Amino acid sequence: MSPLSNTASATASGGILIEGLRKVYGQGDTAVEALKNVNMQVSPGEVVGLVGPSGSGKSTLLKCLGAIIEPTSGRMQLGSEVIYDDAWKVRDLRALRRDRIGFVFQAPYLIAFLNVLDNVALLPMLAGVPNAQARARALELLQALDVAHRAQAQPTQLSGGEQQRVSIARALANRPPVILADEPTAPLDSERALAVMRILNRMAQQAQTAIIVVTHDEKIIPTFKRIYHIRDGQTHEEAGQGICLD
Ligand SMILES: Nc1ncnc2c1ncn2[C@@H]1O[C@H](COP(=O)(O)OP(=O)(O)O)[C@@H](O)[C@H]1O
Ligand SMILES: [Mg+2]
Repeated sequence: MSPLSNTASATASGGILIEGLRKVYGQGDTAVEALKNVNMQVSPGEVVGLVGPSGSGKSTLLKCLGAIIEPTSGRMQLGSEVIYDDAWKVRDLRALRRDRIGFVFQAPYLIAFLNVLDNVALLPMLAGVPNAQARARALELLQALDVAHRAQAQPTQLSGGEQQRVSIARALANRPPVILADEPTAPLDSERALAVMRILNRMAQQAQTAIIVVTHDEKIIPTFKRIYHIRDGQTHEEAGQGICLD
């Protein structure tokens, strides 16, 4: 099946479409072509894996899609909206990042001087949600991720697995249609890594979120139904095992 064959369903109500994406860092003799020709499609409610060796362009791809860096050429679409077509097509990139993309990183990057609840409530507050409502939503997410009992704790008092679940709650706080996760399970043991994947799959289904998980974690690779392999800046789609997590 061509990765672009169900483009219409992928983009009608959400989802991600990337066509011919290219990214060159630097210029002249020192230029590095990190992405040569990336094609990807993720439907709403789907969790896909992005797998490739170190230096193959995985983080570069997530940063382009997340509007953290600017691609060199190609096309990116979120839902029915073209966000990039050889140039940004969205005026307010900060609002795009804040409202439509949730990031989960390998390191949780929680804010040390805010308690767990406010770490999760901060983004909705910045987006204009009244404080009480933002905190209520944050608590609901912490409950869904089984860390609500740590809501008043400081991030440094949490275990690695708890911190990672809080960072997932934070990524979901603005109910973004897209979640980008860069090696989210790398520091976790097998059981906790699979628990994180179960949560991401549940969230994808419940909120029709399109999720890309960058990983080379052998523990979680069998959970994907579809995997994009990236090598030398080019993507190839493959069917995954898609083992059941419930
Ligand atoms: N800011 C940068 N400036 C120059 N080259 C970079 C930069 N970031 C990444 N690269 C290069 O781009 C390529 C892809 O890197 P990256 O996307 O980080 O790969 P991965 O996440 O798969 O390990 C590598 O050759 C890397 O050295
Ligand atoms: Mg990387």
